[in-house]
Amino acid sequence: MTKTKTVLEVLQSTTAYFKKHNVENPRLNAEHLLAHVLGRKRIELYLEFERVLTESELAPLRELVKRRAQGEPLQHLLGTVEFCGLTFLCDKRAMIPRPETEQLVEFVKSEIRNPKSEILDVGTGSGVIALSLAAKFPEAQIVAVDISDDALALAQENASRLDMADQVRFLKSHLLENVEGVFDVIVANLPYVSTQDRHTLSREVLHDPGVAVFASTRGDELVRELIAQAPSRLRPGGMLVLEIGIGQSEALLSTLAEKNYRDIYSKTDYSGVTRFLFARYG
Ligand SMILES: C[S@@+](CC[C@H](N)C(=O)[O-])C[C@H]1O[C@@H](n2cnc3c(N)ncnc32)[C@H](O)[C@@H]1O
Repeated sequence: MTKTKTVLEVLQSTTAYFKKHNVENPRLNAEHLLAHVLGRKRIELYLEFERVLTESELAPLRELVKRRAQGEPLQHLLGTVEFCGLTFLCDKRAMIPRPETEQLVEFVKSEIRNPKSEILDVGTGSGVIALSLAAKFPEAQIVAVDISDDALALAQENASRLDMADQVRFLKSHLLENVEGVFDVIVANLPYVSTQDRHTLSREVLHDPGVAVFASTRGDELVRELIAQAPSRLRPGGMLVLEIGIGQSEALLSTLAEKNYRDIYSKTDYSGVTRFLFARYG
């Protein structure tokens, strides 16, 4: 006879299994996966701790738990991620959006005075920055570019699902190469990890596409290239906003000054890392 298991027992045994396999936040991961399989909100599990789970509920959970323990990111297993209060599809076609980038979006929102601003998102990935800004500024004209066809396909699916396909124009481009016109704001979260640091990354990060994570040997090459290109696509007084890697701020702040940007400043992320650069041109 197989032993029946309650919701609470399954959460406890999955948490222990995740701990053994070095999954960060083991209990939270267990709750997310069980809620996903049961079609419930995570918080609703707390009302059902004593409920006995059926084999048809447990079988798909076992599969997901195994994959998570092997290092597949939670967001890929769930298929979606929350970002700035919106739900985005999330899979291996683009980088999993990070909490720091939500901060970036909040900073950009607070800088935008004109709701009809023209905004360019460079390296849009799953489209989270462009679409979160589109949700806040429905009248803004937003263009989002990426070099990856896969990322652009995912971003477009996200735009359609969020009913914002008319608000953002997606374009394939290496940085600003295929971009026309001028913008009030250019925002970019480009790859900023050095290829030499590959061995320091978690197994989860290695599920992100390489093109989304790595620049070249320094890490800041693409950001530098954008700093050089952006003045030609910024309206006079327009703003460049960049998310950057740990330890890159000093050199990049100097580069912005050398390239004649003005009103240059930086901001830190939640963990105190100087992560965001702001500068105006013209
Ligand atoms: C760090 S991910 C950021 C994705 C998304 N903006 C976010 O914040 O979650 C960087 C993105 O830049 C794109 N990318 C890489 N090289 C690029 C290039 N030369 N020109 C345009 N986009 C590029 C990658 O495909 C990837 O989608």
